[in-house]
Amino acid sequence: MRLLTAAVTSMALMFGATAATAAPIEIKFSHVVAENTPKGQMANKFAELVAERLPGKVEVKVFPSSQLFGDNKVLEAMLLGDVQMAAPSLSKFQKYTKQLQLFDLPFLFKDMAAVERFQQSEAGQKILSSVESKGLVGLGYLHNGLKQLSASDPLRVPADASGKKFRIMTSDVLQAQFEAVEAVPLKKPFSEVFTLLQTKAIDGQENTWSNIYSKKFFEVQPYITESNHGVLDYMVVSSAEFWNGLDDDIRVEVKKALDEAIAFGNQVAAEKAQSDKQAIIDSKRSEVLEISDAERAQWVSAMKPVWNQFSDEIGADLIEAAAQSNN
Ligand code: SIN
Repeated sequence: MRLLTAAVTSMALMFGATAATAAPIEIKFSHVVAENTPKGQMANKFAELVAERLPGKVEVKVFPSSQLFGDNKVLEAMLLGDVQMAAPSLSKFQKYTKQLQLFDLPFLFKDMAAVERFQQSEAGQKILSSVESKGLVGLGYLHNGLKQLSASDPLRVPADASGKKFRIMTSDVLQAQFEAVEAVPLKKPFSEVFTLLQTKAIDGQENTWSNIYSKKFFEVQPYITESNHGVLDYMVVSSAEFWNGLDDDIRVEVKKALDEAIAFGNQVAAEKAQSDKQAIIDSKRSEVLEISDAERAQWVSAMKPVWNQFSDEIGADLIEAAAQSNN
């Protein structure tokens, strides 16, 4: 009896030890936006699907609103293994690939359907792998939407932006875009934008309806010009070391969950582009300015020369392929 008890105890210890070492794989997903945004909703949906399908095996922990890392630091943190997934805006990959700068070219896409067509094309999908040489894996695009210009004074034509300070993401293309209208661009993290606007350290910024709404920029910016002058989308990324280190069956399931979460996030993006714009209008805190075709033509002709400035770095063929997606 004593022998049997000893055997049972040692087996229990053995299984206990095994269970203790088989902790779920943790995926820390870090992002900078609020939870009620396309990216916030996508990340939460991804965590939910993984919890349902891989219980005890993989656990996704989402850190919104720059709680863990700002977008300018998250990719370095990923390469160090401090975070496993993120979805920075395409404008924030400049240190890792020049090709993604394509998406910052002003007035390249006429609408989000054109962006989607290009991203799903062979050329668009190929760009996802352009970060591989830097140790990252591009897992897919996620939409947010077209950008609008918010400011402390009404902006109807490019001359209205002249001399004004605009916060931009860390992108040389965006810098050139604002310089093209003689404005002063300042590269600043997303987490600082509200305070910069509130304290009037800057005059304006460019962003999507959902970011302007969820981060309350509209409360401190009396005018928003509906310019639709560029796109703000994301690439979901992981480090090659983490991603390729997953067992094949786990990686397949995680990717499936991610693809579904992205499809859900894209739906949220399309809805929020309408509903968050309307919520801003209804708030009456900020006036939404529509511009005429002639005014818009002025912005296009001032900003479009930026394409030529970057065509060698990005690739003229790629720019042409993207422009073709408008047809
Ligand atoms: C984001 O949507 O992830 C942030 C965009 C920004 O930095 O303006």
